[in-house]
Order: sequence, then C-alpha cells, then structure tokens
Amino acid sequence: MLLIALIAFGCTGNKEKKQADKKMNLKKEIFGETDGKEVFQYTLTNENGIIAKILNYGGIVTQLWIPDKNGNPEDVVLGYDSLQGYLDDTPYFGALVGRYANRIAGGKFTIDGREYTLALNNGANSLHGGIKGFDKVVWDAEDFIFPDSAGIILTYLSEDGEEGFPGNLKVKVIYTLTNNNELKIEYEATTDKPTTVNLTHHSYFNLKGQGNGDILGHQMQILANKFVPVDETLIPTGELKAVENSAMDFTTPHAIGERIAQVAGGYDHNWVLNTEVEKKLRMAAKVTEPQSGRVMKVYTNQPGIQFYSGNFLDGSLTGKKGKVYNKHYGFCLETQHYPDSPNQSGFPPVILRPGETYQTTTIYKFE
Ligand code: BGC
Repeated sequence: MLLIALIAFGCTGNKEKKQADKKMNLKKEIFGETDGKEVFQYTLTNENGIIAKILNYGGIVTQLWIPDKNGNPEDVVLGYDSLQGYLDDTPYFGALVGRYANRIAGGKFTIDGREYTLALNNGANSLHGGIKGFDKVVWDAEDFIFPDSAGIILTYLSEDGEEGFPGNLKVKVIYTLTNNNELKIEYEATTDKPTTVNLTHHSYFNLKGQGNGDILGHQMQILANKFVPVDETLIPTGELKAVENSAMDFTTPHAIGERIAQVAGGYDHNWVLNTEVEKKLRMAAKVTEPQSGRVMKVYTNQPGIQFYSGNFLDGSLTGKKGKVYNKHYGFCLETQHYPDSPNQSGFPPVILRPGETYQTTTIYKFE
C-alpha cells in the first residue's frame, strides 16, 4: 500500500516538476556598459524551448534559439557574443530601427512647409535614423512575466532635433515571447511636434543556424502583388510595380537563390503588402528552411515589408562563436512603411502629429 502510494506520489511529483521546468522563464543579466549606462541582457524562455535574448541597448535580439523538426535548437539570428561587437561595427544586427527605417533621400523632408535636414550616413542619404539611431542608444527597460508570455518594455525619449528629426518623440517598444512560439514586437510613439516615424526590427535570420552557410535555399513567400522599384542608391522611383512574371514574385514560395542573379545587387526592396482592410494584422511573409524544417511566419499591420538578402555581408565580420558572416548568410524581413515615404506623395503617409499615437505590431512566429 505504502509502496503504491510512494510510486503514485513519485509520478505526480515528477510530472509537476516537468511542468515547472517547462514554464515561461525570464532572467536578467548585466551585459556591459555604454554611455555611462548599464546594458542588460534579458533571457526569455517559453515552454517549447524557444529562447530569445534581448538587450536594452538598441533593443537588440542577440540570440534566438528555435528547435528544428527533431527538436534540436539552433540560434537563428546573426550577432555578436559581446556588447563590444555591437559597439564596434554592426550592420544593425538584431536591432530596433528608428526614427525612420530605411532611406530618406538627401536626408531632407518637408512637413507643413518647413524643411528638415537629417544626419547623412549612407552616401547622400539618411539610413535607419541617422548616425546614432535607435539601434545605438540605451533604452530604459522593465520586464514582465505571465504564465503564457514574458517580455520587456523598452522606452526611449528621442529629443527634439535628434539626428535632425523634429519633436520630442516618446517611444515604447514591447518585446513578448509567447508559448504560442511568437516573438511579438509592439511599437508605440507620441510627439509634441509634427514629425515622421517608421519603426522596424532588423534581425538577420538564418533558419539553418547563424553562420551555417547562406540563406539561398530558404523558401520565401511574400504576400504582395507589388513592390517598390528603387534607383542605384536604393531610393524609390515612386512607382509601385506588379511583381508578376519577375524575380520579385514571391506570391508563391520560391528559393531565395532561384532568381536572385536577375536582381542587381540582390534583394533589398520593399514589397507592398496585400491588404483588404488597412492596418489589419495579417500574414506578410512565410519562410521555410527545408533541411531543418524550421518555418517562420511574419505578421504585421504595416503597409510594407523590406526583404533584404544580406547583400552587403562580405565576410569581414566575425560574429558569435567565431562564425564568419559571408554574403547572403542572413536575411531580414523588416515590416515598415516604404522607403523615402516622407518625400513620396503617392505612398501611405508617415507623419505623426501631436495628439496622435503611432501604433504598430509585428509578430515573428516559429513552427
Ligand atoms: C537596407 C539595406 C541596408 C541594411 C543595413 C536594410 O534594411 O534595406 O539597404 O544595407 O539594412 O545593413
């Protein structure tokens, strides 16, 4: 009798322990210091073994561990092992990008008849918010944990005139990892002067695992019938062009490498996402890596998505675990408004005015 009771107790005890081990978890550790502020790395773990590590410096996702079809986890984002790596040289690995994701032609735009001049950091253009964008600042951070989700709330005050942008912009970004295998990013911003805002996330994914070869065999699908053609400096021509019968057509899945040679420089374009209802959260893209079986779906309520095939990676950067990042070793799917929208009257507007709240959501969901 006693033996049976002990066995029964032992079984329940083990089961409970297993469940306890599998619970959502959050850990905070010091990662370094910059600008006289402490930088923390937050480790979020869900019950399916997905691990996301995120910094309050630049909101950088430093690691993202996703199990493959056999349950073996790999870190699927490019990055560095130390803060110094990110401080020394980074093509926006894993970072939050703002105030304006992608390029603004000539670093100039006009609101209500007043012209603003931005810091130039990409030839004659402004890229990703300028010299010291949101990817290079230390954000204030608070963490939270619930039974089915955990995350961090990042806040930053971008002062009037920062990098040339008008208005004190209060920005809040919430990263949440859920037991539904989603990494959710919610962006919010308010201003005290009319300004322009376009926030995104810049992880370089490789679903085979970071540093494990190129991404050309990944199957890409983008739910967009049109894309935004650009000139040689990657500034939109203003046209929204049908993808039909071209290497830009990802309405059905295609290997990234299948037609990339037909695209000068590789993929670095914005796709005009199909939508029936404006601002509705819907699937924008789906990527499948055939060998590992890892699948990533991207959901957003933004009008566009920038698909960048890591064309400027050239083997000069050595990342995590000594892995060298060669050309096409990672791809980005950056949900956003189209590049140079402040200067393109035919594109959806990107002006934020006092009293309004900029609010967008993006989800990277893994299977
Ligand atoms: C842009 C690329 C740029 C890269 C920065 C992407 O969002 O589209 O043109 O080189 O970011 O590393």
